[in-house]
Amino acid sequence: MTTTGTGFGHGKVILVGEHAVVYGHAALAAGISAGVAATARVSDEPMSRLSVPAWNLEARAGDGSTVGRALESIVRRLEAPALDVVADARIPARAGLGSSAALATAAARAAAGAIGRADATDAIAAAVAEAEAAFHGNPSGIDAAAASSGTAGTFTRADGWRPAAVLQPITLCVGLSGKPRDTAAQIASVARLRERLAAVDHILRALGTLTDEAAAALAKGDVDGLGRIFDAAHGLLSALRLSSPELDALVHAARAAGAIGAKLTGAGGGGAVIALAPAHERDVLARWSEAGFDGFLTEIAATKEAEA
Ligand code: MEV
Repeated sequence: MTTTGTGFGHGKVILVGEHAVVYGHAALAAGISAGVAATARVSDEPMSRLSVPAWNLEARAGDGSTVGRALESIVRRLEAPALDVVADARIPARAGLGSSAALATAAARAAAGAIGRADATDAIAAAVAEAEAAFHGNPSGIDAAAASSGTAGTFTRADGWRPAAVLQPITLCVGLSGKPRDTAAQIASVARLRERLAAVDHILRALGTLTDEAAAALAKGDVDGLGRIFDAAHGLLSALRLSSPELDALVHAARAAGAIGAKLTGAGGGGAVIALAPAHERDVLARWSEAGFDGFLTEIAATKEAEA
């Protein structure tokens, strides 16, 4: 029997439709090449353990922590014995880049490999979904879908992940606010605002419409159109009280450095922004750095769907 397994989970960026996707609308996202790689070994100890040195994270099944509960879900769903899981994380944690889904996907794949069940894709997906629920309360599943796919796709709760057509590669500038985001808290905050303002449903629907327009723009290679959509989406997400002084500063700095569109990405409150700045990507990173923010570039690959 196999006793060691390895697995990888991609980080993700949501291009449009975060939060709207929780309410059944479509979102457009992409798995990025950076992510989390995990190794799992069947352990001699009675309790499973997980360690992520880059995030200073150590957890045990049964320790009552969120990560401990996520680990328990993975081990139980895969009917695995106690495991020792070590993860090498190449994306920041709690930055809106799908770190928890990338970790859960990497750990579940590694765990399945360690017990000779690497092909048990349904059990792996169920384990990741349960781990994500431990992290985030009521997640739509978009982060988990992007973590396992690594390409661009549209996602709805009803239909899951559908690969998107991308006519030409798109370079995105990703700027980090340095403030952690709390997805469960941001989802709860939108739910509370929705109870007070009927307009919230219109805003969520408008974000879903922007997703459809963004998917069409990606398929046509209309980067300028995508930039307009980013700006509109940031305005709508701000109306849902999901931005912050740091996220707004990153968005404005990107535009001042030549970006044709910029928005927060993921749950908001903290975390990251994405900007489209053809021929000005380095200017955007430099402007962010001057303002004290880290950033990096990532690429969304062109897809075969675009040729179909
Ligand atoms: C978080 O990356 C995206 C949200 O839409 C939450 C979710 O879909 O689970 C804010």
